[in-house]
Amino acid sequence: MLEVTNFIRNNWYVAAWGSEVTASKPFARTLLNQPIVLYRNEASKPVAMIDRCCHRGAPLSVGRIEGNCIRCMYHGMLFDQAGQCLYAPAQTRIPTDAKIQTFPVEERHGFIWIWMGKPELADASEIPSMPWLSTPEYEWKPMYLYYLSNASLISDNTLDFTHLSFVHGNSVGTPGQAEMKAPYTEVDGGLLSTRWDMDSDPIELHRLAGMSGKVDRWLISRWYAPGMLLLEAGACPAGNGGPDGSRAGGISFRHTSIFTPETDFTSHYFWTHARDFKLGDADLTDKIHSTLHDAFLEDKVMIEAQQRVIRSFPNEKYVGIAADAGPNMGRRLIAIRLEQEAALD
Ligand code: FES
Repeated sequence: MLEVTNFIRNNWYVAAWGSEVTASKPFARTLLNQPIVLYRNEASKPVAMIDRCCHRGAPLSVGRIEGNCIRCMYHGMLFDQAGQCLYAPAQTRIPTDAKIQTFPVEERHGFIWIWMGKPELADASEIPSMPWLSTPEYEWKPMYLYYLSNASLISDNTLDFTHLSFVHGNSVGTPGQAEMKAPYTEVDGGLLSTRWDMDSDPIELHRLAGMSGKVDRWLISRWYAPGMLLLEAGACPAGNGGPDGSRAGGISFRHTSIFTPETDFTSHYFWTHARDFKLGDADLTDKIHSTLHDAFLEDKVMIEAQQRVIRSFPNEKYVGIAADAGPNMGRRLIAIRLEQEAALD
């Protein structure tokens, strides 16, 4: 089976961009096959709980935020941010089991992270560091794509850069990328790959940054299970690049892509592309992100079509090729995490 539908649960997943969740209106999102409601309390801290009233199952996301609490707008039961019922209509005694399951949440780097595994294992220090999203020295904007595919297929795509030459042949790809050898190595619990595309034509992102003429281009990719890609990407005038080059006159970006399963066959894709040059140029920020958004739609079209075909041939076997090395390493790390998690039960 090409899709991994057994999700790692003891993991900090991105539930939303911080800007999506407010103190005025509950926010609904399904994560790991569970409907979740998110809102902000009076201190603006995010709260997450199951999006299902314990009385008759109405969604709390169509309810009302009242200070630190959320009220179900079917029969009016009121729940605090720990999920405990504080009010039930026409009675003074609150049933002891009138409680909604809540989840640990943390807000960092512009994201709201949720822990849907064993609560006692939630350790916020394990949330990955992304300093470029937490400093005014970089500029970026929050981006989101909804995918009609399993998250592992998206993750595979980020571990196999041969597709750049074909899926993105008219956007961010160049012809030589499919033949480039850039093996992954295991580093710090993730997978690291460094790719140099020397003396190549600048792509649209480079031209937006004011580059013209041939460039040396680099992609330093770090991938972490179950689905996060952190990328250093840049270019400098040809002749200044390479592992020993000065990269003088170059530009660089810090890319972040994180995939959170919605269901077995749908996913949330959060991404942004931060830069540390031409700060304050909002028009350039928009152009960079819309250029990449168009390129990511090319991935989405291919991966969703792949998902449809795979589902219509559920028992087929698939042929492996050398380019699968990265995806296979990623899947092995996911399998190890799943085995470790199963051993805790
Ligand atoms: Fe929520 Fe009745 S369903 S109060």
